[in-house]
Amino acid sequence: MTESAAAARRPNRSGPPIDVDIYSGSATPELAQAVASCLGRPLGRRELHRFADGECHVQIQESVRGRDIYIVQSTCYPVNEHLMELLVMIDAFRRASAARVTAIIPYYGYARQEKKTTGREPITAKLVANLLSTAGADRVVSVDLHSPAIQGFFDIGMDHLTAIPLLGEYLRQHMDLSDAVVVTPDTGRVKVADVYANMLNIPLVVMHKRRGGNHAQDVEVRAIVGEVANKRPIIVDDIISTGGTIVTCTQALLEAGAKPDITVVATHAVLTPPAEERLCMPEITRVVTTDTIPLGNKTLGGKVVVISVASLLAETIERLHEGRSISALFRDWRESYPV
Ligand code: R5P
Repeated sequence: MTESAAAARRPNRSGPPIDVDIYSGSATPELAQAVASCLGRPLGRRELHRFADGECHVQIQESVRGRDIYIVQSTCYPVNEHLMELLVMIDAFRRASAARVTAIIPYYGYARQEKKTTGREPITAKLVANLLSTAGADRVVSVDLHSPAIQGFFDIGMDHLTAIPLLGEYLRQHMDLSDAVVVTPDTGRVKVADVYANMLNIPLVVMHKRRGGNHAQDVEVRAIVGEVANKRPIIVDDIISTGGTIVTCTQALLEAGAKPDITVVATHAVLTPPAEERLCMPEITRVVTTDTIPLGNKTLGGKVVVISVASLLAETIERLHEGRSISALFRDWRESYPV
């Protein structure tokens, strides 16, 4: 189920369309189309194709000289393909003399490697920031970065949006919150979870997880701080990748006496195998996410709700084009629910 634009922050624009050009890569074409529709603009014409060895090639099929360009492309699976495609597109617009090129990256891949945890590791979130500016992006926009500090990895303009107001509003309107608690699976996300708890006016529960030897898969819950017995948990996270975190937390919550009616909320549904299988467990009754990553035919047994960020991105583009504040988009919400 995809929530209509009514669930997003703004209605479709009235009045003449703003004079911007919006292009889509191959990662998030439906979202790009929805953003363009919100702004009353057609998607820009471009041709993308791959050479036999996998190199990508882009041709923009109209003049963009002097234009304000927005490329909508999440760097989701296959991450390397989509990232390279975005870089190639930025290069093409730069060389075609666009006045300004903004990369709208609803899901910023490689963000989970944003610091060294042991020696001799890369910091890929910074590497990608460098690549985007080297390719010629003037500005980058993203939604719910894995770590807000990534914004500081850019020496070009970077606007960090959040889908939490949209997701929180959905929960507030569609759930019985009388015996609900917000659960963070990770002590690193307490602040974000506290914003949800504050929005929904329900208690916060903090879990402490630890990754095992196999970094990507093994998750172990070490402690639960807060009352979960006879409560209906709402687990909040930024990303669901393999589903290991969610399923391990779910099991720990059930063992601690939580009701078998668990809601999962995460901005980015990466959903790499075996996430679909894991999230099908009957105790998880609802998964609420956004369209920063296309779900394709992943319905999770009919329990997924997708809230569109299209209107939020459209409003952001309009404000950027007109030189208006982006933080003002969230001012009322931040004042009501300070972190
Ligand atoms: C980790 O710090 C993130 O916030 C998510 O909890 C994590 O990426 C989810 O991964 P998985 O679904 O594979 O456990």
